[in-house]
Amino acid sequence: MKKYEIAVLPGDGIGKEVVPPALEVLQTVADIHGGFQFEFTEFPWSCDYYAEHGKMLPDDGLEILKGFEGIFLGAVGNPKIIPDHVSLWGLLIKIRREFEQVINIRPAKFFKGLRSPLLNPSDFDLIVVRENSEGEYSEVGGRIHKGENEMAIQNAIFTRIGSERAMRFAFELAKKRRGHVTSATKSNGIFHSMPFWDEVFSDVKADYPDIKTDAYHIDALAAFFVTRPQIFDVIVASNLFGDILTDIGGAIMGSIGIAPAANINLNGKYPSMFEPVHGSAPDIYGKNIANPIGQIWTAKMMLDHFGYDEAGKLLLDAIGDSIKSGHITRDIGGQLSTREAADAIINNFKKRA
Ligand code: NAI
Ligand code: MG
Repeated sequence: MKKYEIAVLPGDGIGKEVVPPALEVLQTVADIHGGFQFEFTEFPWSCDYYAEHGKMLPDDGLEILKGFEGIFLGAVGNPKIIPDHVSLWGLLIKIRREFEQVINIRPAKFFKGLRSPLLNPSDFDLIVVRENSEGEYSEVGGRIHKGENEMAIQNAIFTRIGSERAMRFAFELAKKRRGHVTSATKSNGIFHSMPFWDEVFSDVKADYPDIKTDAYHIDALAAFFVTRPQIFDVIVASNLFGDILTDIGGAIMGSIGIAPAANINLNGKYPSMFEPVHGSAPDIYGKNIANPIGQIWTAKMMLDHFGYDEAGKLLLDAIGDSIKSGHITRDIGGQLSTREAADAIINNFKKRA
């Protein structure tokens, strides 16, 4: 039987509260499926670890992580004891960069029973594929002069390899979904990089004749995320455009506590990392009220990544059952504790499986 060795980093704050029930969910899914197993190895790397050792992870930490098939992360950050940029760059960004996690994916979906800030939310179900290694977030450029003459140049880097692999990922994903890819562009205003992006998109789409495609300028696309998100399936975007779109995607769902994300390594040299969008929420830590859905949906993304799409779908349906029946935490209008909300999802899954 296939066994997946997963490095588990609960991290800080509510990460320590939502990761254990999410692991139980994964265990339940594996037990019921019967065709694979997980072996979880937990690491205490976090701000508490920093307070004791003066670093977020040991010197051989990445070397250790490299041997795993996946990294399941809670959240990192405790601004009371460590400045956020130290904890973020010391662990999360280090892993994303060193492990060449060149794609970031974040789904957003309408759940019946969940209050969305949209007045008339329709049944949207979309996923943003964000190029995660280059684009607008580059260190190329510089500053010169002082005072009135001061200037800054920030270069955006678009390589054919980087753009194409994000697009191919989006097309492959669309094959398993509703067969539709939207490109986020801005070739009317950005003179070099976006026409290039459009060209690469048109080359890639030639290989996928069965997939429906379209392209929108990012400003209109952002507006459509609010006014008619139901028209989208898979959206492929550059680093900056994807960053902004995924935040809107999270916002229209209704709560930061439910949104998941995955950082994908494509060359197979390093593990991919699965983490919810939310942070360590120090304001609610210790109260056992954190919403476990973000972490559990993250677990679903890991299942999808390993090819267990059907089990992943059942799990997402089980989450939907909980929301519909109100067996949820108070941030989304329920009464349950973290533990109870997770147990409800486990029970729903068992009923569906
Ligand atoms: P946050 O996401 O931790 O919290 C924002 C607000 O949402 C808070 O009011 C919190 O109570 C609420 N919230 C978040 N997740 C929730 C959940 N699962 N259930 C119910 N309510 C939830 O963002 P914030 O406060 O800006 O950052 C706190 C710490 O987390 C900082 O140290 C920050 O650097 C870190 N952080 C880490 C991230 C990561 O590890 N990927 C991402 C974002 C922030
Ligand atoms: Mg962002």
